[in-house]
Amino acid sequence: MPTLDPSQLAIREMQEDEEQMILEMLKDGFKDTENRLILYVLTRPLALLLLAVVSSGLRFLLNSFVAALLGPVLLTILALKMLLRHSPDLGCLRAYYRSGRRRLWVAVCDGDDVCGCVALVPHPEGAPCTAELRRLAVSRWYRRSGVGRRLLAFLEAQARAQGYKRVVLYTAVVAKAAISLFESNGYRPTGGRSWLGYTILREFSKEL
Ligand SMILES: CC(C)(COP(=O)(O)OP(=O)(O)OC[C@H]1O[C@@H](n2cnc3c(N)ncnc32)[C@H](O)[C@@H]1OP(=O)(O)O)[C@@H](O)C(=O)NCCC(=O)NCCS
Repeated sequence: MPTLDPSQLAIREMQEDEEQMILEMLKDGFKDTENRLILYVLTRPLALLLLAVVSSGLRFLLNSFVAALLGPVLLTILALKMLLRHSPDLGCLRAYYRSGRRRLWVAVCDGDDVCGCVALVPHPEGAPCTAELRRLAVSRWYRRSGVGRRLLAFLEAQARAQGYKRVVLYTAVVAKAAISLFESNGYRPTGGRSWLGYTILREFSKEL
């Protein structure tokens, strides 16, 4: 899709009747990342080695080679899916983001087409003057047309207006589009979260 004219795009708080639509948009954005992240985790050398060891052990207990091979893989996928789905505030989006200093905004194209969203929350670990960016997603149809960049600029302006001096965010290592968006907007890697020694989530931050 070509870049949208700035006058076509407005950003405002999410309305009650948009909650379901936004949930679907977030789930859609998350699904791609989730599948790529699971593939990424399963193909790390250490994960492959562990799966091979468990499969070999199971081969002594099970008659079927296929079951011994696929069982641990399927169980790992299931466990990772359950782990990644754990998102306490997704079920009651509007109530969560209207409490305290949390806010969720939507991008609206041509007056009525909701095409993206972004949320801001105070840093959960209480880092001073730090806001966290969450729930950034753009609907598939509107991707690569400047909506993500606009939402990011809007969020930063909101954070500044609320007195924050820094924005922090966490994104999966496999979310290439998001990483490129953040890096091209001045965000720098400041940490990460690892699993089996492999970075899974990258932390980016920007001084406002
Ligand atoms: C990440 C996301 C929000 C980007 O939104 P978008 O509206 O497509 O982004 P924009 O059109 O504003 O693009 C801005 C920049 O992001 C980067 N970018 C966006 N999509 C990209 C892609 N598919 N591949 C590489 N870079 C990409 C580019 O640097 C781009 O600048 P350019 O067009 O001048 O090259 C969108 O792809 C999305 O919703 N992804 C799924 C959910 C997700 O990953 N959310 C982030 C969670 S932290």
